[in-house]
Amino acid sequence: WTDFERATIKDIFSKIDYECNLFKCSCFLRCLIVYPWTQRYFAGFGNLYNAAAITSNPKVAAHGKVVMQGLEKAVKNMDNIKATFTELSTLHSEKLQVDPDNFMLLGDCLAIVVAAQLGKDFTPEVHAAFQKFLAVVVSSLRRQYY
Ligand code: HEM
Repeated sequence: WTDFERATIKDIFSKIDYECNLFKCSCFLRCLIVYPWTQRYFAGFGNLYNAAAITSNPKVAAHGKVVMQGLEKAVKNMDNIKATFTELSTLHSEKLQVDPDNFMLLGDCLAIVVAAQLGKDFTPEVHAAFQKFLAVVVSSLRRQYY
């Protein structure tokens, strides 16, 4: 990581307000709405019938927060993301059996939310740093798959 990349990633995550809908659930709920096949893993979450149901589903909001907190661990361990996500990767692979192609879909939703939040501060350089961070996260989550 360059100094700029480190500072950018930390700055983006420092702006996350977990009680605010924007980050708490909008990345995850956007993923469920835009890529509806991802809903199949959340059968226990109740009503995911349409965008309105997904948006007002408290389990979706709660899980959105869990995912963001998982990502925050990566931010705190930027030099060791692969090891940080070993257990999480095993969980998604062996227990949850999530198709790993879905990870970047959630990452793309996150990038859209961050871009909307930062506005003109989401420069090409910031975008590149964020995309690199997402790529490392996704490759770490894929690592325990076989
Ligand atoms: C659970 C993180 C992507 C499906 C979790 C948990 C975390 C997490 C921290 C909780 C683990 C625990 O309870 O110990 C992430 C991160 C992702 C990601 C950082 C990518 C950036 C996905 C995707 C899917 C998925 C794309 C499916 C399309 C699930 C499911 C659970 C889960 C089904 C269990 C939910 C429950 O029943 O409570 N994830 N996840 N995850 N994740 Fe992911």
